[in-house]
Amino acid sequence: MTQEPDLSKYPREARDFQMTQSANDAQGVAPVRDPKDRVIVFDTTMRDGEQSPGASMSLDEKLELSKILEDMRVDVIEAGFPIASNGDFEAVHKIAQIVTESTVCGLARAGVADIERCAEAIKPAKRGRIHTFISTSPVHMKWKLQMEPEAVLEAVSRSVAHARNLCDDIEWSAEDATRTERDFLRRCVEAAIRAGAKTINVPDTVGYTYPSEYADIFRDLIENVPGADNVIFSTHCHNDLGLAVANSLSGLQGGARQIEVAINGIGERAGNAALEEVVMALRVRGDRLAFYTGVETQHITRASRYVSAITGFPVQFNKAIVGKNAFAHEAGIHQDGMLKNAETYEIMKPEDVGQGASNLVMGKHAGRAGFREKLKELGYELGQNALNEAFQRFKDLADKKKHVFDDDIIALVDDALASGADRIQVKHLRVIAGTEGPQQADLTVTVDGVEKSDSATGDGPVDAVFNAIHKVVPHEAILRLFQVHAVTEGTDAQAQVSVRLEEEGRIATGQAADTDTLTASAKAYVNALNNLFARKEKTAPDALASGF
Ligand code: KIV
Ligand code: ZN
Repeated sequence: MTQEPDLSKYPREARDFQMTQSANDAQGVAPVRDPKDRVIVFDTTMRDGEQSPGASMSLDEKLELSKILEDMRVDVIEAGFPIASNGDFEAVHKIAQIVTESTVCGLARAGVADIERCAEAIKPAKRGRIHTFISTSPVHMKWKLQMEPEAVLEAVSRSVAHARNLCDDIEWSAEDATRTERDFLRRCVEAAIRAGAKTINVPDTVGYTYPSEYADIFRDLIENVPGADNVIFSTHCHNDLGLAVANSLSGLQGGARQIEVAINGIGERAGNAALEEVVMALRVRGDRLAFYTGVETQHITRASRYVSAITGFPVQFNKAIVGKNAFAHEAGIHQDGMLKNAETYEIMKPEDVGQGASNLVMGKHAGRAGFREKLKELGYELGQNALNEAFQRFKDLADKKKHVFDDDIIALVDDALASGADRIQVKHLRVIAGTEGPQQADLTVTVDGVEKSDSATGDGPVDAVFNAIHKVVPHEAILRLFQVHAVTEGTDAQAQVSVRLEEEGRIATGQAADTDTLTASAKAYVNALNNLFARKEKTAPDALASGF
């Protein structure tokens, strides 16, 4: 038995249904089916995604990302965990003010303080949701919560009922559901439904389940829990065994009608199910999977690049859908087939996910209008100030480099997005390198606009640069990763550098690109430091503060 979503709860759906139908007809893809097969897309990039070790986003970045997600027609945006920090509260609160189409959701543990703080944060939303959760597996209840099962059950009822008094739209999650005893899971879900939850999320918190087992859990709950017909069941899959996307699809086959996903699959440990992969799997295999979403997939590449730029997490080249090689064909036999008919080796078109088909070279004489068009084609829509700054950077780059390729422009814009709001900025760098050591770096940075300079030597030029940064910005962070790759071919190619720092268990990453590898290294390190300092300002919540 599959449940029928109550469309009145999701006013956009009827409209989406019509739009998707006509878009699909025009593209000749699978016919749209019944509205009961409409899948609600719940994006958790800014909540679970931001919990990735090393990922952090500023308020402005979150606001911009929420606009991108809304343009993409994501149904629910989980904007943060309001009690976690003032920064998280503010982000959820501001996003609730600017987002008008998507539902804005905040996370809360099963405690009075959490739920009330969350309700306060989402108050301005046109459509707001409180997402409250508690662990239900034996191992979590015993060691994490130190609560007896009956007390957990009681907390489910009370927390959902309290949230329901503050907001109409309540989602309840059974943390570690896939390692929960079935009978207890059924009792908890029943309690949450009775108390007023409209969405029941069944998280695979530690990425433990496999597809057929996950589908079976949904079937069991939908068939056996009283009231299950009146709620939407949701998947939430982590990728510890590389099964997050497969499990999400299987959850839909078991009767779920909401998927919780993150752009580029970022999230705790190995990450969450990648939005772009689940959504495109549903679109491409509409012939066999009778589900559809309202996502306008041509925004996917833009969202992916933006998330990569602001978190400093590079997208691996062979990543499905959004990787640099996702639509590249190297082998001669493949290229030959592609030239005859793209369908020989492509199951979707690059344009479907917003990847520009061309790699046109731009020269230094390109004008601002052409540059703006190119950015659009590459999936960026910048405000006037950001556009002016990017154009200036492009001109500077074109002076240094004979040909500017698409990948150069992507690196340049990502670099500006990643470091634009940084309090510490690299101003000048001069490095003495060569066979005769020690190598020396003279560095000037600005910290909140105030210049600071110093020099340092090191075992090699990169070491000298990083030692100089230590002198101008004293810190205890340890360098965990330093990675360089060339953005394009040729000796004048830009170097793209990724840096990962760790301090007291906190991890932060940074990224930068420049035609000068040492400048890119300095900027990436400083970008990581900025992210680390921003992360320090956010304090993660401890164990449940005030339970029921
Ligand atoms: O993975 C998980 O269990 C979660 C919950 C808070 C929904 O992220
Ligand atoms: Zn999660």
